[in-house]
Amino acid sequence: MHNVPCDRERVAQLLSNLVANAVAHGDPQGPVEVNAQINDGHFVLSVKNQGLIAEDALAHLFRPYSRPASGTPQTGLGLGLYIASQIAQSHGGKLDVVSTGPQGTTFTFSLPVQA
Ligand SMILES: Nc1ncnc2c1ncn2[C@@H]1O[C@H](COP(=O)(O)OP(=O)(O)OP(=O)(O)O)[C@@H](O)[C@H]1O
Ligand SMILES: [Mg+2]
Repeated sequence: MHNVPCDRERVAQLLSNLVANAVAHGDPQGPVEVNAQINDGHFVLSVKNQGLIAEDALAHLFRPYSRPASGTPQTGLGLGLYIASQIAQSHGGKLDVVSTGPQGTTFTFSLPVQA
C-alpha cells in the first residue's frame, strides 16, 4: 500500500481533463486506456487513446489556448492541457505526451513519491 500525498481534487481534475480529451479528440473507434501504478519511486498515471497529434502541435500543446489548426470539432478553449500541466508542476511532477504511429497518443503524469 502506497500513499501518494497530493491535492486529490486537483489530481482528479488533471485526470478528468486527460480522459475528456481522449474521448473528445481521440479516435472514436478505439479504446481509452487509463493506468496508474507506483514505478521506481514515482506515481505514474497515464491515459492513452488512438489517434495522433501533429508533430508541430506537440511542441506547444501545454501552452494556454493551444489548439492545432486542424482540431477536432469538439475543440474547446485549449486550456485543459495547460491546467493539467500546471497541476503536475505544482506537485513537483510533470506531464508528458508521446504521440506516434500505431501506438496512438499517451499522456503521462509522473510524480516522485517517498518510499
Ligand atoms: N488525447 C488526445 N488525442 C488527440 N488530440 C488531443 C488529445 N488531447 C488533446 N488533443 C489536441 O490538443 C488540443 C488542446 O487540448 P486542450 O485540452 O488543451 O484543449 P481543448 O480540449 O481543445 O479545450 P478545453 O480542454 O479547454 O476544453 C485539443 O484541441 C486537441 O486538438
Ligand atoms: Mg481538453
